[in-house]
Amino acid sequence: MKDLIDKLFREKQLSRDEYISLIKDHSESDAEYLFSLAVKRRMEYYGKDVYVRGLIEFTNYCKNDCYYCGIRRSNRSVERYRLTKDDIMSCCEQGYELGFRTFVLQGGEDPYYTDYKICDLVSSIKNKYPDCAVTLSIGEKEHESYKAYFDAGADRYLLRHETADSGHYARLHPSEMFFDHRIKCLYDLKEIGYQVGCGFMVGSPYQTAENLADDLLFIKELQPQMVGIGPFISQHDTPFAQMNSGTMEQTLFMLGLIRLTLPPVLLPSTTALGTIHPLGREKGILAGANVVMPNLSPVSVRKKYLLYDNKICTGDEAAECKNCLQMRMRSIGYDVVVSRGDSKQT
Ligand code: 5AD
Ligand code: FES
Repeated sequence: MKDLIDKLFREKQLSRDEYISLIKDHSESDAEYLFSLAVKRRMEYYGKDVYVRGLIEFTNYCKNDCYYCGIRRSNRSVERYRLTKDDIMSCCEQGYELGFRTFVLQGGEDPYYTDYKICDLVSSIKNKYPDCAVTLSIGEKEHESYKAYFDAGADRYLLRHETADSGHYARLHPSEMFFDHRIKCLYDLKEIGYQVGCGFMVGSPYQTAENLADDLLFIKELQPQMVGIGPFISQHDTPFAQMNSGTMEQTLFMLGLIRLTLPPVLLPSTTALGTIHPLGREKGILAGANVVMPNLSPVSVRKKYLLYDNKICTGDEAAECKNCLQMRMRSIGYDVVVSRGDSKQT
């Protein structure tokens, strides 16, 4: 196994079968070895700097019905909310004062926010904070919509592919959602000129080692600037309520493999990872991640954006996450930095 990890470090790529055997058969000491090389690689590009992205969860309305997600449209027990433009601008204002230079507008697929409204939001934020990057994470749209947001000033777009296997995709989503369209969205976004993030859940229902290997091959092909991964965590009001959650170990191992496969990638140590283990995000950084995404949403809505059970960061002090993460990163010898934190990918 260590030979394979060395090979991945050198060549930045393995065959599908090699990835599968690493994912299936590694020992704890193989994992430690992987993390040491992943950190070494990350150090070459980013040192001990950890980038922060302020996450603004601006709507929990969603027209989709993904089986895993707590804010799927069929979940009647969610109290739905939308932030107004003023709400969002004041989140940015607070965030700017806290040192954030990237704002991530994330929400369900909510038709209330027309392309016109999204463009207006993006251009207002960019006008007020020209030194900041704006990231959108609002799901699948058509090429012309993505183009309009980009022309309005959006810099980046996050859209997890969820799985690179169309059969697996069909087991996670209702038949009205199409794998091919999701993948097309990611290529459209790249073509338009966005810095793009894809990603997937680790340990999602029916996921196999083969699926994870295909995720790595897909990432290698797409060459995104960011890859967001976290453990699947079951949510009590979804069809997957009784399914097992992913594990921290599995997630850390995938973080390490992603760092070695795509060395300059921006790799968040996610809230979901912090939710399944109290030190999950610290361990994520020590497995090769280099980004954290503190919650910047208004305190009043945080308990309503629950994609999965027991989500952390729903506390009642606005600046809590920033401070908490700063402390956590310092505790392992890393620094949270104020900058847009662009990818070092060329
Ligand atoms: N557990 C973990 N992650 C989830 N997501 C949605 N539901 C869950 C869950 N139950 C992730 C999906 C989505 C992102 C916004 O959150 O990957 O793309
Ligand atoms: Fe949100 Fe710690 S990062 S409470």
